[in-house]
Amino acid sequence: MGQATGSRILGSGSALPARVLTNADLAAQIDTSDEWIVERTGIRQRYIAGEGETTASLAIEAAKAALADAGLEAKDIGLIVVATATPDNTFPATATKVQHALGCNGGVAFDVAAVCSGFLYALTTADSLLTTGTAKRALVIGAETFSRILDWEDRTTCVLFGDGAGAVVLEAADAANPASAGGPGVLASRLHADGANHDLLYVDGGPSTTQTVGHLRMKGREVFRHAVVNLSSVLKEVIEDAGVSADDIDWVVPHQANARILDATAKKLGIAPEKIIVTVDKHANTSAASVPLAFDVARRDGRIKSGDLVMFEAMGGGFTWGASLVRI
Ligand code: ACO
Repeated sequence: MGQATGSRILGSGSALPARVLTNADLAAQIDTSDEWIVERTGIRQRYIAGEGETTASLAIEAAKAALADAGLEAKDIGLIVVATATPDNTFPATATKVQHALGCNGGVAFDVAAVCSGFLYALTTADSLLTTGTAKRALVIGAETFSRILDWEDRTTCVLFGDGAGAVVLEAADAANPASAGGPGVLASRLHADGANHDLLYVDGGPSTTQTVGHLRMKGREVFRHAVVNLSSVLKEVIEDAGVSADDIDWVVPHQANARILDATAKKLGIAPEKIIVTVDKHANTSAASVPLAFDVARRDGRIKSGDLVMFEAMGGGFTWGASLVRI
């Protein structure tokens, strides 16, 4: 094998908690309705972690499914990156729990905190570490249990989120067949952050401030406006970096926050709505898990195939945002 030039995706997996919570279930608990939630967000149901289900347990299940899909064993993995804003513990990193459960101790394992953009941050970091030779193969996982940081009496936020995990296996790509020459792999990635908007989307607790876990707080309308502007701009950057046109993209796998954000962003870029993978109706917003979860759903149902050009994109608290263009 020659020197690595980036990395490629070998397989994917995902995991969802057993319990489904529908909009009708929520309407029985708080002052909301199925009509309001569907019209404003596209969400019809979400999965909620039960007793014994945690961010790590969902991550482990998704990782095992991704390894099986790639035809690999845990010993083949030298790097595990878990994107999460809802770790099992403040420390150690959830990634080390996943590593131990899989039985591939000794490699590199750490968490990335970029909230809903976490999978993009984790993918780009793992791609760089594989390119520089830190490991040959990586598990990149987005896993969350947002149900545990929601204020279940705040109808403006609690209807929007769900729990789950998604994972991909990445392998250092061969210089003889780089993505730039038509081979499989990451073609271009861009990440951004702007801490000025902290108060629009944050958790009002933490170990160093309140010594509590805290609850999610959001000014939804403002977040919506920033999301459309930031996502359109980062997508344009990645399309330009990769030297492709919007028409060349086979599939967009966006962060699943809100069907209206997906529609508005696609319209701005002139991407056909049927190229957008949508799972927000079933999963709601699973933060860092949403992109790999949606990717796995669309690979397993046969929509995303080998050779397809796939755009991943997300924006979340911070604000943080990013996009990656990958040939499968
Ligand atoms: N059920 C019924 N009524 C509700 C609910 C609810 N669950 N929540 C709010 N309302 C009411 C409000 O109280 C308000 O009533 P009022 O007019 O009497 O004051 C009315 O509905 C309108 O509220 P808005 O907040 O203005 O509604 P909006 O149309 O902006 O939709 C929403 C809210 C869905 C949150 C939207 O702003 C949004 O999707 N924003 C994006 C935020 C997001 O998705 N964040 C996810 C994390 S960030 C990311 O992933 C990109």
